[in-house]
Amino acid sequence: MNTRISKDIDQAETLLNAGELVAVPTETVYGLAACFNNIQAVRRIFDVKNRPAYDPLILHASSIEMIREQIVSELPALAEKLGKKFWPGPLSIVLPKKNSIDTIITSGLKTVAVRIPGHQDLIQLIDKLEIPLAAPSANPFGYISPTTAMHVLDQLEGKIPLILDGGPAKIGLESTIVEIINDHIIILRTGGISIDDLKKFDPDLEIKSSSSQPKAPGMLEKHYAPKKSFYYENEFDPEKDNSKVGLIRFKSFSKEFPVENQLILSPEGDLNVAASKLYSAMREMDQSKFEIILTETFQKEGIGIAMNDRIRRAVTGK
Ligand code: TXA
Ligand code: MG
Repeated sequence: MNTRISKDIDQAETLLNAGELVAVPTETVYGLAACFNNIQAVRRIFDVKNRPAYDPLILHASSIEMIREQIVSELPALAEKLGKKFWPGPLSIVLPKKNSIDTIITSGLKTVAVRIPGHQDLIQLIDKLEIPLAAPSANPFGYISPTTAMHVLDQLEGKIPLILDGGPAKIGLESTIVEIINDHIIILRTGGISIDDLKKFDPDLEIKSSSSQPKAPGMLEKHYAPKKSFYYENEFDPEKDNSKVGLIRFKSFSKEFPVENQLILSPEGDLNVAASKLYSAMREMDQSKFEIILTETFQKEGIGIAMNDRIRRAVTGK
């Protein structure tokens, strides 16, 4: 199969309606989309990604009405408040599903994760289709999520007919996933919406960290990982040969390594810019001549918390 990159939303609509998979842009990372009511197409998402059946998909809608009418059996008041504040945007909310939502999508759960993505092209596409799109991140299972159309092509070329190119993802890290239980927020995955933003809606919110029986497989210990050995900068023995080591840094060069071995995410020191470049940098290092990749850790605030979460899951040796 020939994989095209295109900005043509109509073409994406036609292919999706014909039961094909299309990679779509979002503000977080690119998704691998299928019409939510075409179960054969939804199954193919799992095949193409090599994704285990126990890892449920997120449904992407273009309005709260669509979520109410087609996806959830109930929309608690707190969920609606969060939606009104953060959608379109990088927040996924786990809610009770309608019976009509196939359990392939939810991996057998009675709940379903939904979000309204903050990307105009995708919203237009969903509006045209008039139905939600099921879409996980468009990477092979376990690997780094794609933040550009080229990243998707690198890994899914020949497997899908179309990548809808909406430019580089603005946020560059996956959505924050929350569940609402008894009027409380439980954070299942940190991401584009910060913990502090959510605390304004529930000061007593709970953060579920990873476990071997994850509620969200984004919580799996090993995930988002490059193929090469990947370590924290401060774990590298400075006495060792550092010529084959590539280093990812926030805003300034380390004096311990050759400058040409280093990638700076945001010379101006903007954490959000750094987040949007983190996955690109990990990919670039993975494809470079360097044999070992190191990364700095980030400020424990705002999106820095999600950045640290992703690199913690990506580092080698767990
Ligand atoms: O930003 C994002 O969320 C991107 C873009 C494409 O929207 N999507 C994404 O999807 O990161 P994915 O499949 O790579 O991660 C979705 C996570 C999975 O870890 C899954 O377990 C969790 O959402 N999830 C889905 N349905 C769930 C449910 N009913 N309960 C708990 N977790 C759920
Ligand atoms: Mg993913």
